[in-house]
Amino acid sequence: MINVAVNGYGTIGKRVADAVAAQPDMKVIGVSKTSVSAEAYVARERGYPLYIADISKKAAFEKAGLEVAGDVEAMIQKADIVVDATPGGVGEKNRPLYERYNKKAIFQGGEKHEVAGFSFNAHANYRDAIGKQFARVVSCNTTGLVRVIHAMDQAFGVEKVRAVMVRRGADPDDVKRGPIDAIVLNPPTIPSHHGPDVQTVLPQIDIVTLAMIVPVTFMHMHAVQMDLKRETTREEVLKLFENHSRIGLVRKVTGIKSNAQLREYTQDLGRPRTDLWENGVFEESVSVMGREFYCFQAIHQEADVIPENVDCIRAMMGTVTDPEESIRMTDRALGLVAIG
Ligand SMILES: NC(=O)c1ccc[n+]([C@@H]2O[C@H](COP(=O)([O-])OP(=O)(O)OC[C@H]3O[C@@H](n4cnc5c(N)ncnc54)[C@H](OP(=O)(O)O)[C@@H]3O)[C@@H](O)[C@H]2O)c1
Repeated sequence: MINVAVNGYGTIGKRVADAVAAQPDMKVIGVSKTSVSAEAYVARERGYPLYIADISKKAAFEKAGLEVAGDVEAMIQKADIVVDATPGGVGEKNRPLYERYNKKAIFQGGEKHEVAGFSFNAHANYRDAIGKQFARVVSCNTTGLVRVIHAMDQAFGVEKVRAVMVRRGADPDDVKRGPIDAIVLNPPTIPSHHGPDVQTVLPQIDIVTLAMIVPVTFMHMHAVQMDLKRETTREEVLKLFENHSRIGLVRKVTGIKSNAQLREYTQDLGRPRTDLWENGVFEESVSVMGREFYCFQAIHQEADVIPENVDCIRAMMGTVTDPEESIRMTDRALGLVAIG
């Protein structure tokens, strides 16, 4: 059994904790918070021992009816591996703590590649993570891009990628961020940071990305174009995606043409928290013109990195060395059967 601590029980951390708890070979030994909030009560309901960053706040937690198991350092000492899901930049500050106790740690996409020195995606570089002390699961947008680029590169060879990302303005619970009524170029300069981030996993890929943010909270939408090394057909590409465990096809027959309808669909399918863990590639958009490929894909920002964190744990611990086996185990435990 792999003992996993989740440092930072927020949007990503609470999902990672539930995904870890569902695995037959892993156990959540604790989760951490800095303040009393709704998520701390969810942790209590789930039965996850609650640790806090600042132990002087213990009385405030206990007054709120929340039992505190100890401070974050105590939690780290009990763990075989820590998933650091604290806000971007905090993970870098936590790294010395993991070094002090000689613990393995996984950082998230809000940290720079250099914080871990290795960036992870299960389909692309699982074996390279085996035995590593530190890894970073790349961001939601980068995970979505890497999945589809890696699959296409393996099958047909990718000459270059050009992609536009229409990004959600905030997560659903984030009442402080916007925009409310604007399309914001983010950044206004080209390329955006997403292309170089893809290259931390797939260094050989020629990629340029452009990004903007819009007033929605659920999912990013990517318009992706690739020049391929060999000609293919739309049917071949659809078959490739049908057989990929973390690429789903949003079928034409469903009538879904938006993030809103896709959200309703995942909700009706009974997905926990409406999570779409896989890429949602719109079947109708999949187009091939000789060596040119185009598609639209929806990326659920809160969800796509979750199975990647689980696989990263197994790879770093070295308990499963075959990527496909780990991916199968993770997906089975989550109930992830790609849509389409
Ligand atoms: N949200 C997304 O769409 C998304 C997608 C992919 C990757 N990521 C990345 O995942 C990471 C986490 O993002 P998030 O959206 O999950 O953030 P979040 O919702 O703000 O959650 C962060 C959690 O960390 C806790 N925390 C803050 N400082 C801490 C500290 N010093 N020690 C321990 N816990 C601490 C917070 O607790 P309190 O609330 O009690 O302070 C909160 O529970 C970031 O690197 C982000 O870039 C986010």
